[in-house]
Amino acid sequence: MNITNTIKYIGVPDRVTDLFEGQYVIPNGVTYNSYVIFDDKIAVMDTVDVRFCDEWLSNLASALDGRSPDYLIVQHMEPDHSSSIARFAEIYPNVTIVSSDKAFTMMGQFFGEDYSDRRLVVKDGATLDLGGRTLTFVAAPMVHWPEVIVTYDSLEKVLFSADAFGRFGQRDDSDWVDEARRYYIGIVGKYGMQVTKLLAKASTLDIAAICPLHGPTLTENLGFYLEKYTTWASYAVEEAGTVIAYASIYGNTKKVAENLRDELIASGKTAVLYDLNRCDVHAAIADAFRFDSLVLASVTYNNGIFPTMRAFISGLVERGYTGRKVGIVENGSWAPASGKLMREMLGECKNLTLCETTVTVKSAANDATAAAISALVGELK
Ligand code: FEO
Repeated sequence: MNITNTIKYIGVPDRVTDLFEGQYVIPNGVTYNSYVIFDDKIAVMDTVDVRFCDEWLSNLASALDGRSPDYLIVQHMEPDHSSSIARFAEIYPNVTIVSSDKAFTMMGQFFGEDYSDRRLVVKDGATLDLGGRTLTFVAAPMVHWPEVIVTYDSLEKVLFSADAFGRFGQRDDSDWVDEARRYYIGIVGKYGMQVTKLLAKASTLDIAAICPLHGPTLTENLGFYLEKYTTWASYAVEEAGTVIAYASIYGNTKKVAENLRDELIASGKTAVLYDLNRCDVHAAIADAFRFDSLVLASVTYNNGIFPTMRAFISGLVERGYTGRKVGIVENGSWAPASGKLMREMLGECKNLTLCETTVTVKSAANDATAAAISALVGELK
């Protein structure tokens, strides 16, 4: 498949992995993207997950059509892209491996071989002349590991963006934004400052296409994707709306959460409900970053927060949740404590506005609960 007349796609689809990085559900799989740039010299852009190495090597051989590659450019050492390097290096012993200094250290760690006799270490701003074009390497530390570089082809105006702008699913899936948000917030969300720095560098480039390491090549309406990334990287609110995330055992906390949702919608606000005991928690986390407000509704369990709620809040905290309004619903039949404990967990987040109303339920909702829900809706509107 051609990206341009001189850049071919040789990546592979993964439709068998159940959990990406061991935790993200991927109902429509994921792709490991790899490309070949044909010029006087030939450069291969990244490898793929070693479980798909044979298919990738076959794609590569087919694209090369008898020619030999000169360079393997390694932009990122996470094994979903790097674990076929060792086999590639055996099959193509004359290829120069191009990457950052930190990446070669990681190659030594992963493969027991750091290719010191056949490597080219590149720093931020370094260039590589392929004959008809020059590639420029841009350091992108923590997008999403410290060794990452991205690569700009000034002839074709293509940005090879490593993990940035990737998404779950197959390349021809119609929707981009929801799976890209879930991917970004889940995997790169902690590193908004570093992504913002990369976007600032990218803004100086004339880009006609973005080739990420996952998902589709982006060729049209690039402003839309750049705007989404600018919003996500800055932790800005994407849309008005409230996520209500609840952890319920016998349905009483669930009922309060549903009533709250119904009242919010009746008041004209978007409200999205997540049952944390059953939902994809990373979809809930992504939506918590998407919308302007969040309600946490949890039973008290073992004098603490219900485990799925604790995991959800941890997921928010570790990704730098900030700048939103948060309401609390707590339930407990003899000593409701989850509200106080949830507020304490959120104490690690900066710039949150906690609603004055706490909805406290003792076992099941009653008239006082209804009044508290209405007060909370008033604060969230
Ligand atoms: Fe797709 Fe950070 O690897």
